[in-house]
Amino acid sequence: MKTILITGASSGFGRLTALKFHQQGWNVVASMRSPEKEQELNKLDKILIVKLDVTDKCSVQTAISQSIEKFGRIDALINNAGYGGYGLIEQFDDDTIRNMFETNVFGIINTIQEVLPFMRKQGSGSIINITSIAGFVASPMVSVYSATKYAVQGLTQSLAMDYKSLGIEVKSVAPGSFETGFISSAVKAFNSDDDQVIQLSQKLSNHINEVREQFRNMGRKTPDPQEVAEKIFECVTATTPIHNYAGADSIMTAKMKNDLSEHEFQLRMIETLLPNN
Ligand SMILES: NC(=O)c1ccc[n+]([C@@H]2O[C@H](COP(=O)([O-])OP(=O)(O)OC[C@H]3O[C@@H](n4cnc5c(N)ncnc54)[C@H](OP(=O)(O)O)[C@@H]3O)[C@@H](O)[C@H]2O)c1
Repeated sequence: MKTILITGASSGFGRLTALKFHQQGWNVVASMRSPEKEQELNKLDKILIVKLDVTDKCSVQTAISQSIEKFGRIDALINNAGYGGYGLIEQFDDDTIRNMFETNVFGIINTIQEVLPFMRKQGSGSIINITSIAGFVASPMVSVYSATKYAVQGLTQSLAMDYKSLGIEVKSVAPGSFETGFISSAVKAFNSDDDQVIQLSQKLSNHINEVREQFRNMGRKTPDPQEVAEKIFECVTATTPIHNYAGADSIMTAKMKNDLSEHEFQLRMIETLLPNN
């Protein structure tokens, strides 16, 4: 029986992915920062709940040892843990920026470095990194978050080539916008003692919110985060490209980026995402 290790399984895509693989008969290691709070997954058979903070290398090592001890192998690693942030770069302090990179980028490097020796020994494995639409199209007010997700897209592409010959697949799944715990846990860096910064930040935020509202009023169904769990399952169990997309907005934007020249695409994004004046 195959075993999957998921980071950030306490909520959102991570939790849904744990349940999806469990339903499909996999052994699941649902890792989270606060396992003592878990009330659902710990009631299921063949789910091991382990404590794992991706920024703490010791906790990553311990969680992987516990997984191997219990199930003997790790066939898939889902690097899902992460969070967002809104604000102009001048509204973020250095610690807030570095902390986001610690989780969204170095956290993924930590788990990958620890799991690869086991996958190499097995001669197989899948690593799926959850990136974002913000990892292939940068939009206003998310520069720091976008930088972390672009970094992971690059990391994924290179690792996919490095480890291909050893039977290890590395892929990304880039979700669009979904209602999970993401908005409430995102950093909101909207303060400044400079009026011009505050005004610019408000103007850009207002416009982005209007664009989101227009999308909602276009009759799109509320996106179901289960779509992301299904895409992750497909990436682990079937042949897919290195970079994958989940959610109508992400799929449509990826297609547009593919169909247009770089210049035309950037113009289209500026037209849509920036206010006229
Ligand atoms: N929802 C969206 O619209 C969206 C769009 C594109 C990409 N994404 C990406 O999807 C991934 C999952 O997000 P989500 O939407 O499911 O949001 P979510 O419900 O807030 O889940 C995020 C998970 O990450 C965990 N986490 C945060 N920092 C961690 C750390 N240092 N170590 C271990 N776990 C940590 C959280 O754990 P705690 O419960 O302990 O806080 C939580 O379980 C993230 O990488 C996010 O960037 C989300």
